[in-house]
Amino acid sequence: MCGIIGYIGGRNAAVEVYEGLKRLEYRGYDSAGAAFCDGDKLTLIKKRGKVEKLLPHLKSVRATIGIGHTRWATHGVPSDVNAHPHSVGNICVVHNGIIENYAELKAGLEAEGSVFLSRTDSEVAAHLLNKYYDGDLLYAMKMTVGKLRGSYALMAVCKGENKIVAACNKSPLIIGYGFGENYCASDEPALAGKCETIVVMEDGDLAEITAESVAVYNAVYNCELQSVIREPEPNLAVSADMSTGDCPHYMLKEIREVPESVLSTKRAFSGIADKFKTAVSGAKRIIMTGCGTAYHAALIGKRYFESFASIPVEVETAGEFRYKDPLINEDTVLFAISQSGETADTVEAARLARSRGAKIVAVTNSHRSQLNRIADIVVPVAAGPEICVAATKSYTGQITALYLCALAFAGKDDGGIIEYAAGLCRDVVKNTNVDKLAHMCARSRGTYFMGRDLDYAVALEGSLKLKEISYVPGDGYPAGELKHGTLALIDRRTVSVFVITDKELAGKSGNAVEQVISRGGKVAVVTNVKGLELPQGVSEVITIPECDKFLSPLLSVIVLQYLAYRTAVLLKKDPDKPRNLAKSVTVE
Ligand code: G6P
Repeated sequence: MCGIIGYIGGRNAAVEVYEGLKRLEYRGYDSAGAAFCDGDKLTLIKKRGKVEKLLPHLKSVRATIGIGHTRWATHGVPSDVNAHPHSVGNICVVHNGIIENYAELKAGLEAEGSVFLSRTDSEVAAHLLNKYYDGDLLYAMKMTVGKLRGSYALMAVCKGENKIVAACNKSPLIIGYGFGENYCASDEPALAGKCETIVVMEDGDLAEITAESVAVYNAVYNCELQSVIREPEPNLAVSADMSTGDCPHYMLKEIREVPESVLSTKRAFSGIADKFKTAVSGAKRIIMTGCGTAYHAALIGKRYFESFASIPVEVETAGEFRYKDPLINEDTVLFAISQSGETADTVEAARLARSRGAKIVAVTNSHRSQLNRIADIVVPVAAGPEICVAATKSYTGQITALYLCALAFAGKDDGGIIEYAAGLCRDVVKNTNVDKLAHMCARSRGTYFMGRDLDYAVALEGSLKLKEISYVPGDGYPAGELKHGTLALIDRRTVSVFVITDKELAGKSGNAVEQVISRGGKVAVVTNVKGLELPQGVSEVITIPECDKFLSPLLSVIVLQYLAYRTAVLLKKDPDKPRNLAKSVTVE
């Protein structure tokens, strides 16, 4: 995890690194740090807490070379000492990823006399760089990465060396080209408005970056560094997209962008529909995988394929799938769903399936990602940059993409229903008021989200949203399972939110509502079922427009996203940066 940024050129590196770190903060924000070189002066600043904590210390820094890091702790608690950069001798290094053999390397280095200051896996890279440094930082990096197992994006600077040296393997890293200046970063948005041209580094690449030049090498299969050409590509990230606009938080802005995400995804799909049909034709088996919200979208996608195309679909979280020795052959199509396309478990699940002959369909909201590179075909989710850690508009984009995929697989098209549904989403975005329910949730001891069929999938997502940003405990359950356990948790301090959008199942869910009320639990219902008869005692009914049952998740989830947002704000939590989490989970 974590985000890293480097700058070399004529501007003040302190400003460039700080701005880059602010944009990378969604990747982790428990501590941050930076190192700057100016001639023979090396300055190292690192602090526990968010990137802002660096600001007072950066004010006096003037430098032409800098590297920075924003951290999501894997090894070692968030603290000043565990923050990056790690420094040994004259070298400072930042790392994103996990060095799997760090304990073994550390023991060897300690036996040679190295003294470790932090509890991180990353510090071994600093010691190795120092050990191998003989006046050539690129050589030291080559020797260092030769010892590492695991995932890494590394950037190092050294006192007296007028360059940044970078390396990556299974962690993303891009180089941004400027005029008389260059950048290196974990992702494109970090360089929005800074560089129009980028190069995406590939696994095993090393790069030597000066203000005037960039040289990329690959050393994976060769002991000697081989110079390689990586095609420059346009930087598609736009700096205007990176602001919160007139909203206090990214999350609110991004919920309001749900209708556009649905429409843009439809437009993007029309550009690849034929290619998609060719890529998946002949599939006999479909597996869908993803993590977190993407997994919840897969649950909905399964239903689409099974209903529209009568093909059985299995859904598995990526972290489980990759360790289950899954049965896969050439007739299998794996849908790997990921907003970022960088989630380690999802990427590795796709690699595994591919190695066993499956076709890979990547459903991503990213123009370039590891997943896109592995895939046979990319189905774009055109949600635009999503900065809030909690996914919102990317989820509705994923649902739209999967809906269109399922129809295309069945040889049908949507007949304009997506545009209609986007219009309904606009109504929900504009007219939903969750204030009363948010107050109930904020005061509650536990929250339970329930539904049947597609409503159950949405309930899971609603529950995830609420707990991840408000920290109010709870869970999502199938309404029918209530009586098999969850009922024991219900009392007057709990809130149960029922999603009821399927006319045929409405009566059944109504029974579950009754059972909760009879135990003194508070109940809210989100529904678009006309004439729905609810028992007395329901505290809040939130009505959304009537809609085709397969597209109702697009509408009902907006209510639940708003609910999570409002509850977090009431509880004075930062909805954009929930504790302990990060948006892009690039480690296992
Ligand atoms: C993290 C984020 C979630 C996201 C999940 C999968 O846990 O906090 O919001 O759903 O990763 O991310 P992906 O980029 O693969 O969709």
